[in-house]
Amino acid sequence: MKYLPVNNELFTLNRKNFVSRLKSCSIAIFHSNDEFPRNGDQTFLFKQNPDFFYLTGIDQEQSILLLFPDCPNSLYKEVLFLRQTNEQIAIWEGHKYTKEEARKSSGIKTIYWLNEFDIILHTIINYAENIYINTNENDRYSHTVPYRDLRLFESLRSKYPLHHYERSALILRDLRVVKSPIEVKLTKKACEITRDAFIRVLKFIKPGLAEYEIEAEITHEFLKQRATGHAYSPIIASGNNANVLHYTDNNQVCKDGDVILFDFAAEYANYNADMSRTVPVNGRYTKRQRDVYNAVLRVMRAATKLIVAGAIWNDYHDEVGKIMTEELIGLGLLNKQDVAKQDPKMPLYKKYFMHGTSHHLGLDVHDFASRYKPFEVGNILTCEPGIYIPEEGFAVRIENDILITNDGNIDLMADIPVEADHIEEIMNG
Ligand code: GLY
Ligand code: MN
Ligand code: MN
Repeated sequence: MKYLPVNNELFTLNRKNFVSRLKSCSIAIFHSNDEFPRNGDQTFLFKQNPDFFYLTGIDQEQSILLLFPDCPNSLYKEVLFLRQTNEQIAIWEGHKYTKEEARKSSGIKTIYWLNEFDIILHTIINYAENIYINTNENDRYSHTVPYRDLRLFESLRSKYPLHHYERSALILRDLRVVKSPIEVKLTKKACEITRDAFIRVLKFIKPGLAEYEIEAEITHEFLKQRATGHAYSPIIASGNNANVLHYTDNNQVCKDGDVILFDFAAEYANYNADMSRTVPVNGRYTKRQRDVYNAVLRVMRAATKLIVAGAIWNDYHDEVGKIMTEELIGLGLLNKQDVAKQDPKMPLYKKYFMHGTSHHLGLDVHDFASRYKPFEVGNILTCEPGIYIPEEGFAVRIENDILITNDGNIDLMADIPVEADHIEEIMNG
């Protein structure tokens, strides 16, 4: 891992909160992610399962966590199983956790090698009534390939058919959405690295550069600062490319007079930032670009004020829609009479702003959370309005990451240049 060690208090606290929500006499089992095949004998760069990391801090493949707080043998209340290294693995793959290192990273005292998992589980499972399995319940996800936790469920269900099976995801959905101080610090670090990469590219951009040259600058800054890499595929969309919402080709030349929509951010210690900015290729916005930019910025500022504990997801989005509608009228993109007659189920603003304003952010960029639970203290949400105008060949999106606290919200990206004048000043400085 490139990141510095994370205080294991985070993972100890997360396990404590998790087990406090289990029914009595329950075992919970969690796996690390699969290593996904890439081609031939290659695998994709390993990415830890976010729930597994949340509960262990262990960032290694083929690891298992077993929690059994009511286990009659106290040795097995909390057990981590790890891949045992050997000379071959050390030569070909490099370092793997020793038991001592795993204890230090996770705060878990009992560590076994993986080949002991089946035997140990069998000796204790019949003293449990419930078995909690961690299925991926993200409401935007449907699996086509069965993952480790699902495969475990299939095999346990046939071996132990009369236990009750329960869903860990219901508990994790409530817990993960409320960030602890260490998580906020890690997210803030990801935001700071993102800020430095943004300032670096502001000084680099000029007409004639290819989008991928800008992407390379960003990647350089990320890695230099111990980020694992990009939190998601970066969007470097100049001109009309910005009207493709998930544009990631990044292979066009940035033209004089265009604006570039950036959506890029760093991942640090598995925590993600998520930022968007829109900047002029030649260092000066045109009057129209600036007007649209300032409209989006006003919407972002107004929407940020609505990110408060107790706000309801749908009401919040409807409210932002109204603010955006006024701005679109001001820009001449919508007219008042049409808006007065619009179908409230299909508001006209969606033609120019077709995505949501916010999502939760954390170990997943679109973090695991309920859409129906009011916002709470400790939530981190993005705020990312945009105006997309294909007929004018450009789009503007601005996105910051907002933490809700007891004393109002804190913009974790408040130190990332966002005013049009400030961006121009840095580009021309
Ligand atoms: N970068 C992904 C998003 O803004 O949701
Ligand atoms: Mn984004
Ligand atoms: Mn986002």
